[in-house]
Amino acid sequence: MTIRIRQLTKVYKLGVERVHALRGVDLDIARNEFVAIMGASGSGKSTMMHILGCLDRPTSGVYELNGRPMHKMGAGQLARVRNEEIGFIFQSFELLNRATALKNVMLPMIYSRRHWATARKRARAALDRVGLGDRMGHKPNQLSGGQRQRVAVARALVNEPSILLADEPTGNLDSATTHEIIELFRQLHAEGQTIVIVTHEEEVAAHSQRIVRLRDGLVLSDHPTREDPTHRRWLEGQAAAAAEAAGSRPLAQGAPA
Ligand SMILES: Nc1ncnc2c1ncn2[C@@H]1O[C@H](COP(=O)(O)OP(=O)(O)OP(=O)(O)O)[C@@H](O)[C@H]1O
Ligand SMILES: [Mg+2]
Repeated sequence: MTIRIRQLTKVYKLGVERVHALRGVDLDIARNEFVAIMGASGSGKSTMMHILGCLDRPTSGVYELNGRPMHKMGAGQLARVRNEEIGFIFQSFELLNRATALKNVMLPMIYSRRHWATARKRARAALDRVGLGDRMGHKPNQLSGGQRQRVAVARALVNEPSILLADEPTGNLDSATTHEIIELFRQLHAEGQTIVIVTHEEEVAAHSQRIVRLRDGLVLSDHPTREDPTHRRWLEGQAAAAAEAAGSRPLAQGAPA
C-alpha cells in the first residue's frame, strides 16, 4: 500500500474548545490509484489531506506512507518526507508572485539541495510536461488561472513524488479551465502517478476511479466511482439533460456549421 491509515483522529484545540475534525478514519490507497475525496464543508477533507501530505500530524492513529510510520516522525523527518515523497496542489495555487514560473518550479529542488543546473533542467522538463514550455519566464500575474495551476502541478511533480495530493485544485477555475486541469491529472494517472484529489464537483470526481465520502470526520462511503450511488444519480441526470437538449434542438440533424 502507498497509503495506509488506521483509526486516524485529529483534534484541534482552540482555547478551551476542541474540534474533532477526524474521528477515526480507516483508508488504504494503492499505487497508481486515482481517488476523489468528497464531503460537505467542514467534514475533514483538508485536515486529512494535510496529514497525508505531512503538513500536519494526527492526534492519534496510524499513517503509513510506503510502509513507513509517519505518525511517529518528528517535524524534521516529516519535512524531508514531504519534500521527497509528496506533491501538494492547493486551491489558491500558492505560488511566489515575484518569481518566474521556472523559479517557482525550481524551489522544491533548491530546498532539497540539488545542483542548480540540474534543478533548472528538471524544472524546464516539468513545465514542458504540463504544456507551459513557452511561459517559463512569466510571473504568476502574467499567467491565466489555469496556467498558474499548471505551474503548481509542475512544482508538485518536479521531485517525482510517490503521491500527488490536490485539495480542490479546480475550486478557483472556470469550467473550461477545470476541464484542462482534470485532463492533465488524467494523463499523469495514465503515466503511473498516484493521485488523491479533493473536490465538491461530481464532474471532477467523474475522472477518478474511486470516491471516498467523508461526513463529520468519518468515512461515510468508499466505492468505485461508477458504483457510487450519488455519482450514478448525477450521471443519470447528465444523460437525461443531454437527451433532452438533443431532442429539443430544432433541425439538429444537419452538419455542424
Ligand atoms: N486550524 C484549525 N483550528 C481549529 N479548527 C480547525 C482548523 N482547521 C480546521 N478546523 C475545523 O475542523 C473541521 C474540518 O475542517 P476541514 O478544513 O478539514 O474541512 P473541509 O472538509 O476541508 O471543508 P471545506 O470543504 O470547507 O474545505 C471544521 O469544523 C473546521 O472548522
Ligand atoms: Mg477544505
